[in-house]
Amino acid sequence: MEAACRQRQRSYSPYSRFRVGAALLGRSGTVYLGTNVENASFGLSICAERAAVCRAVADGERAFTAIAVCADGGEPTPPCGACRQVLLEFGPDLVVLMAGNRGADGPVLTATVRELVPLAFTDFGANLADEQGRAPGEERTPQ
Ligand code: THU
Repeated sequence: MEAACRQRQRSYSPYSRFRVGAALLGRSGTVYLGTNVENASFGLSICAERAAVCRAVADGERAFTAIAVCADGGEPTPPCGACRQVLLEFGPDLVVLMAGNRGADGPVLTATVRELVPLAFTDFGANLADEQGRAPGEERTPQ
């Protein structure tokens, strides 16, 4: 959560002025950071959680144990629906820790992705990444 709150300072959010930082913990122990990056064409903005997932996958890690999210405002901000679905791809058991601007010193909510996405869409003949982060049909996780 400390890493997520520090990362929040890197937010590019001139339109909403709502800064969000995320710290995604890989099974290897590596932490991948993300922040929200907005755009003048508002719909192109990306959330901190998805930015962290993209960074991790680009670095070769696809199996995660937890993600901490630290957002502006006094109360914890639960991830948006799009981010929940993207986190689900990498495991329903992923633990999501949510905090407001006081980080772990303020209120913190904890839930698994499974809890955040009831009745999830998970399958259309393929399936989600497995516990080692292998894509459907892939024999090895890229290093
Ligand atoms: N935002 C996130 O980064 N994560 C969330 O889970 C919710 C929303 C960002 C997107 C946008 O830049 C700003 O917060 C306001 O919606």
